[in-house]
Amino acid sequence: MDTINEVKKQEVYIEKIKEINKGKTLKYHILTMGCQLNENDSEKLCGMLENMGYVKTDNFQEADINLFNTCCVRENAEDKLFGKLGELKRVKEEKGTIIAIGGCMMQEKHITDKIKESYPFVDVIFGTHTLYRFPEDLYKALVEKKKQEDILDIDGEIYENLPIKRDSDIKASVTIMNGCNNFCTYCIVPYVRGRERSREPKEIIKEVEELAKKGYKEITLLGQNVNSYLRVEKEKGKSFEEYQGVNSFATLLRAINKIEGIERIRFVSPHPKDFTDDVIEAIRDCDKVCKLIHLPLQSGNTKVLKEMNRRYTKEQYLNLVDKMKAQIPNLTLSTDIIVGFPGETEEEFEDTLDVVKKVKFEQVYMFIYSRRVGTPGDKMENQIPEEIKHKRFDRLKALVESQIEENNQKYVGTIQKVLVEGTSKNNEDMLTGRTDSNKVVIFEGDKKLINQIIDLKIVSEHMWYLKGILTHE
Ligand code: 5AD
Ligand code: SF4
Repeated sequence: MDTINEVKKQEVYIEKIKEINKGKTLKYHILTMGCQLNENDSEKLCGMLENMGYVKTDNFQEADINLFNTCCVRENAEDKLFGKLGELKRVKEEKGTIIAIGGCMMQEKHITDKIKESYPFVDVIFGTHTLYRFPEDLYKALVEKKKQEDILDIDGEIYENLPIKRDSDIKASVTIMNGCNNFCTYCIVPYVRGRERSREPKEIIKEVEELAKKGYKEITLLGQNVNSYLRVEKEKGKSFEEYQGVNSFATLLRAINKIEGIERIRFVSPHPKDFTDDVIEAIRDCDKVCKLIHLPLQSGNTKVLKEMNRRYTKEQYLNLVDKMKAQIPNLTLSTDIIVGFPGETEEEFEDTLDVVKKVKFEQVYMFIYSRRVGTPGDKMENQIPEEIKHKRFDRLKALVESQIEENNQKYVGTIQKVLVEGTSKNNEDMLTGRTDSNKVVIFEGDKKLINQIIDLKIVSEHMWYLKGILTHE
């Protein structure tokens, strides 16, 4: 069956469940782990559930459906899932809540084996390639009262037009491609998300146009490897339809930049090895593309980078940064770094510190290397002891925090364009928004400023946020 008919078939299951739920107020709770791609998948799952008549709750104990969208990039997510399942056992016994688990972790056999053995009360297990089929799996679990296991080990397809219930009315994520072909040796993603495949340009443009019509101001384009958008299709001669001149990531940025109503465009994550000049030029030319670019470093040492299969050297990374800084005015950078990759020596780790000192990132997402079953990194013999990994992590963290403090000073006294997102979580009387460089700014102002881009004068800095005042009332 083709993907269009598959999605239609699922709409029928959504209607069937809606019919069963008629007249009842049923609730669902969802726990999402991991990256923005997973959050976007969860928005689709929420869309399906709400179309079935379920209402969202933040209290898992009162939910009729408890859904998990899992991540397996690092080990701590596993501990979290098993901890939550332990807590849910009693709710299952007392209330009979349906428990469904999906996402990346379910693509790992040792995990699904453990669930079946230790948590036999779980009703539905589905993977990354069967998310679209959640309505059918849920229906069968509800009606046939049989456990459902729906996991496929395939390259993966793209399913358009799934229902979606977005978390925000201001900022929206749009997945432009799925999967990854890079096989960095530490990373599990290529094994659980399948091969790289890009959405049709027309589908992406259509989605962003609809978001603009609904009043969304900021779009984040998502993919494991966004700057190789359509690359595999071109290399393998797979068919895709050019639309509004879009045949690459750079041309996609240019096309989205033209969509009226959208005011900010972000994207995660690009790969340094694929950061071609046409992308740099598009970022420079497109006024709506934010000048904060996420450029995952992972390690600052050429030998470690080689072992990681990243396919760039320390010098190539630094040269790329220099080139981008020279060509893109007001460029800021954020990055991902892993410490304690197998074999990393003290001197090699210091190369990472050196790159951090040189680049002066706006933000650094720091990770302790986590062994992932099935990856080449896990089979490497020279694993770094936990204690050393933690010590290196703390050293990196101290450096990053001192740089952030120093960098924040630069904002004080400047005027920043801020997209106002809502009231501050900690103080209802204050509003919160973000700069182009994604810094949180808190300020006093009228609620009617929400969903507008306004000028704020930055008056003070507080490590993780800035304080601002309106430049005119
Ligand atoms: N251990 C630690 N961090 C990892 N990442 C990916 N795999 C691992 C791993 N096995 C980090 C990378 C990636 C980010 C999303 O997660 O830095 O860019
Ligand atoms: Fe993982 Fe590397 Fe692919 Fe990113 S590019 S998802 S780190 S394999």
